[in-house]
Amino acid sequence: MLSEKLEKALNDQVRIEAESSQVYLSMASWAEGKGLEGIAQFMYNQSDEERLHMLKLVKYINERGGHANVSALNAPKTDFVSFQKMFHELLEHEIFVSDSINELVHVTLQEKDYATHNFLQWYVAEQIEEEALARNILDKINLIGNDKGGLYLFDRDIQQITANSAAITPKP
Ligand code: FEO
Repeated sequence: MLSEKLEKALNDQVRIEAESSQVYLSMASWAEGKGLEGIAQFMYNQSDEERLHMLKLVKYINERGGHANVSALNAPKTDFVSFQKMFHELLEHEIFVSDSINELVHVTLQEKDYATHNFLQWYVAEQIEEEALARNILDKINLIGNDKGGLYLFDRDIQQITANSAAITPKP
């Protein structure tokens, strides 16, 4: 059985993952509107992944005798100025999510809930991947600079990339 405090903290994370899915959906829609098809597809995929992160938490909370809440979400912004700025925001957002996962892990230790501590290790590992991916992409963007041909190739190639793709984040 989850403690009340941990159940609340897990439900906060459900909301954060759901909001992350909305943020990336909004980024996808913005990129699609600018004709950046590859970047849009990447963001649609990211949005789907965040929904899976949310669902995994929902099922875990219910499995442990808690009640997973489906709550109102903050609306994401709709204009991202440039794709470079948008990817900076993606990294900042993932750092925010990592901080929140760390806090959640901290609560599991306070509550001495080692099952949930174990469950959350998947999220800890996932956040390392997601931050590494975002940093990798920003490195590529810096290399491209204002080169139109480079942007064309970047937009073409990025749709193949996901946080789990070996192409950009080689596994040890
Ligand atoms: Fe579910 Fe990108 O963190």
